[in-house]
Amino acid sequence: MARWRTLLGTAAAALTVATMGTLVSAAPATAAPVGNGGVSPSVVGGTTAAQGEFPFMVRLSMGCGGSLYSPTLVLTAAHCVSRTGANSSITATLGTVDLQSSSRITRRSNYVYRAPGYSSSGHDWALIRLASPVTGLATLNIATNTTYDTGTFTISGWGSSREGGAQQRYLLKATVPFVNDSTCNSSTMYNGQVSAATEICAGYTAGGVDTCQGDSGGPMFRRDDANAWVQVGIVSWGDGCARRNKPGVYAQVSYFASAIQSAASSLGG
Ligand code: ARG
Repeated sequence: MARWRTLLGTAAAALTVATMGTLVSAAPATAAPVGNGGVSPSVVGGTTAAQGEFPFMVRLSMGCGGSLYSPTLVLTAAHCVSRTGANSSITATLGTVDLQSSSRITRRSNYVYRAPGYSSSGHDWALIRLASPVTGLATLNIATNTTYDTGTFTISGWGSSREGGAQQRYLLKATVPFVNDSTCNSSTMYNGQVSAATEICAGYTAGGVDTCQGDSGGPMFRRDDANAWVQVGIVSWGDGCARRNKPGVYAQVSYFASAIQSAASSLGG
């Protein structure tokens, strides 16, 4: 499955689960060259987001990102959580680009819903319910059809700014172009490993700009026709970060939209 592919050739499989599910500290010890020739200005190839620019961005205490789906629900990646059930161990930090800001909002989780199809392949999404609602922050709409599964996407997160690098205090952002399934599955890229219906690729052929460890679970989004942000992807996996011919691979939100909506309803909104 996706997690196992992510670090093949760069780290022992034993490290992989820890890296994907938890923290960047388990990132490959032998950092491979990044796609832009080793220069990573500060997500890889990004810049600092402005306070309030992406009010729906969530940092999760296991070292993942997420998006505010409703006042009580955070959409993230399945590989960031353990199992469906009561769970009060996760802290969500919201409302700030600076994770150390004294005005940050924090909430404990009280329940996790992991996509039932996750253990087989892909289906890398989950919902985390917060113990009390967050008011005053805009939520992020999800794409409910494939209309917006193309174009230029924004990626954002507090993950590594380079492969093997540290987590970030300040939220980073960047934009990446859509990569179609046939290109992403070509032999120079992922050679058939991407699930065309359920995953969406984005990045530059030359590399240099990408999500990275610790960005997992966070949203990939763009503007819709009404100029509102709409979430098209969930950070899932890639071969290293920002490498040439290795775009980021994201859970394709439009494919899972109805399942996400049903799960959200069952969790009380
Ligand atoms: N799975 C990683 C995480 O747990 C994110 C990997 C994204 N990789 C990429 N090259 N886009 O944070």
